[in-house]
Amino acid sequence: MFYTCSPPLFGLIYPSTPCTTAATSLFKYNHFPHLDKPLKFHTNAPMDLHATYPALTDLRTRAQKRIPKFVWEYLDSGTGTEATKSRNRTALDQIGFPPSVLHGEITPDLTTTFLGQTLPLPFGIAPIGMSGLIWPDAEGHLARAAATHTIPYCISTVAAQSPEDIAPHLGQHAWFQMYPPRDPDIRTDMLNRARASGFTTLILTVDVPVASRRERQVRSGLTNPPSITPKILAQIACRPAWALGTAKRGMPHMRGLDKYTNAATIGLSPTAHVGYLLRTAPDWDYVNWLRDAWDGPFIVKGILRPDDATKLEKLGTDAIWVSNHAGRQFDGAPATIEALPAIRKATKLPIIFDSGVESGLDILRAIALGADFVMLGRAFHFALAALGPKGIDHLIDVLAKDLIANMGQLGAPDLESLPAPLTLI
Ligand SMILES: Cc1cc2nc3c(=O)[nH]c(=O)nc-3n(C[C@H](O)[C@H](O)[C@H](O)COP(=O)(O)O)c2cc1C
Repeated sequence: MFYTCSPPLFGLIYPSTPCTTAATSLFKYNHFPHLDKPLKFHTNAPMDLHATYPALTDLRTRAQKRIPKFVWEYLDSGTGTEATKSRNRTALDQIGFPPSVLHGEITPDLTTTFLGQTLPLPFGIAPIGMSGLIWPDAEGHLARAAATHTIPYCISTVAAQSPEDIAPHLGQHAWFQMYPPRDPDIRTDMLNRARASGFTTLILTVDVPVASRRERQVRSGLTNPPSITPKILAQIACRPAWALGTAKRGMPHMRGLDKYTNAATIGLSPTAHVGYLLRTAPDWDYVNWLRDAWDGPFIVKGILRPDDATKLEKLGTDAIWVSNHAGRQFDGAPATIEALPAIRKATKLPIIFDSGVESGLDILRAIALGADFVMLGRAFHFALAALGPKGIDHLIDVLAKDLIANMGQLGAPDLESLPAPLTLI
């Protein structure tokens, strides 16, 4: 935030020297008529976040300094050599547009329609397991921000808060992501709980048929739950804000699954417990069952093949979510943006796009290639870890401003008027 001050106060802050006195009068009087308003300068009081964190990269850099290394590695890592993760970025950067000139003044409209609902912005918050490990009460902060901005927030099955914990904070667009429980009774119970808590849209994630190896996480000493080894303790000690917040709330765990601890799972390690409960390799019958069991919009997440999209359309899925899980599952996968055009051709279903989106321009790239809506995962957690809850609002503002600036370059008054993209080399 900028604070204004009158010249006498300016003099107090910069002790009066001939130089500052001259500078004061220079600014006050008409050498710079456009500066006739009171002077503005930075103080340590709340800053203009756009001046200090104009882009996601700034938030990412600050986030890394505020969360312990093992948590950072959990959030930021891909799998293998992270080729897919890098490909997401490289491939997005290769999508360009011919800029438009002489189109006169436009005021870009960012509203969009998705599954019959009008949304003020074309993006929302993707499900991230154990968000609450990344920043204390992350699920609560994200749900509240999403409600305020009327954007979708999708909570993960393996969140650090249960659907019931989050229920009071949910807005209009509350989505529940499901890793498929193997036990039909647990399946039904989970759906009932999600529905009773106010979630309207169900997402089935299908791109985790097996656990992936995330080598960076292993190297950092991360286990599930984090065990407090000297290595981890040292990492925590360097991050006091995270440590205090986490100490206040208690060590995060997958609270939504607490209820399903039973004779079969007692004694299992938390990882084995989750593995036992969540049969992560569902099949087509499972999709059919879930489609029939849920009475709201049903979306399948983790699609990269046109034939899968066509089949899901035939099965009555309401939308598909094109994603490579941010490069965390399979290091031989195409960039999501590379897979998108063929999938767009193969189906008329509404498409959600994610993986590697970092700016308004990236959102436009995805929409121009056929996406109807875009989700971001890591970005919102970078923003929250960097600046606390106001970071989420700030990121939303950064993305909206970037959308507007780039739509201005393209002469696009709305998201339906984007020109055909070009491949840049
Ligand atoms: C730390 C982390 C945890 C994730 N946990 C889940 C999850 O529990 N369920 C799920 O469907 N996807 C999960 N994802 C994938 C995201 O929903 C989303 O597809 C991906 O993060 C989008 O890419 P982006 O982070 O580059 O925006 C996770 C991603 C990350 C980075």
